[in-house]
Amino acid sequence: MPSIKVAILGFGTVGEGVYRILQEKREELKKSTGFTVDVVSILVKDKMKKRTSITDVQITDDFRDILNNPTIDIVFEAIVGEEPAYTYLSDAIEKGCHIITANKKMFAKHGPALMKHAEFRNVQVGFEATTAGGVPIIRTVTNLLAGDRVKRIQGILNGTSNFILTKMRNEGSSFKEALLDAQQKGFAEADPSDDVTGMDAFRKLMILSSLAFGQQPDWDEVPVIGIDHLQAPDLIDASKEDYRYRHVADIRLNENGKMQGTVGPALIGVNHPFFNIDGVDNAVIVETEYLGSLTLIGPGAGMYPSGSAMIADLLHIIRQHEAVLIPN
Ligand code: HSE
Repeated sequence: MPSIKVAILGFGTVGEGVYRILQEKREELKKSTGFTVDVVSILVKDKMKKRTSITDVQITDDFRDILNNPTIDIVFEAIVGEEPAYTYLSDAIEKGCHIITANKKMFAKHGPALMKHAEFRNVQVGFEATTAGGVPIIRTVTNLLAGDRVKRIQGILNGTSNFILTKMRNEGSSFKEALLDAQQKGFAEADPSDDVTGMDAFRKLMILSSLAFGQQPDWDEVPVIGIDHLQAPDLIDASKEDYRYRHVADIRLNENGKMQGTVGPALIGVNHPFFNIDGVDNAVIVETEYLGSLTLIGPGAGMYPSGSAMIADLLHIIRQHEAVLIPN
């Protein structure tokens, strides 16, 4: 059976999720695609750390080991921050590899350049896991754009913030306790200030903006407010009145053809689709010219939801490039 060789950059929550799914679903993947998918190399920060779950895979702390391996077809990237991720992925594209990333911080800024580069090299870029965790919002918007026009996107795009708001309201937890729980469950960023100040949701909104509108607003013109200043009494009072605080990111093209975005807590009424979105779930409302309004809901963070979004990208790439991936 032909084999697809992959590398994983980063072995944190998401990188490990991808590895586990590839092992656990090896037989199903074989059946559905006709390929075995072999992880041949994993890039880590500390290669001496014990990782009992990994067998028969090169563990390296030097990206050149991956770049110089001529057998690798696809590079998964789940490291944190703009660099060195952007340089690694640019190099991988240049070499002719397809790339699949979960790195929203890098992709919000460099996504358009990576997409252009990939088009030029005739390879694919999967970025479903950058935005809304396991919710297939990237694929959905991409499909809609084929025959429709997106007018507005609103989303609860940060699972950690929604988890904290839910725990503070439903369980009376303090902000600190709720954040600690989100960190222990693997939802929060390594630096959780990105989650609670709204920056993580902002970057996801910029990724959606590029995808849906082919442009991003001037970053300085988008007001970004987090949930870090909300107190438990605010949340409880709001729920008594049939309103709940949700952290909402919103982007649209206004009547003057200008991009308009906002990110911040909003009081959501009982009839709004975001009212009942609890815990780590994300939700995204897409408004289009022909379809009207569509809401997608699902887990917004965590090892398996984000890992599964990356595997969905893998399947898409295999289907698109089947002929090229089969060795002669
Ligand atoms: N920290 C992010 C969140 C992870 O809570 O939404 C998924 O992008």
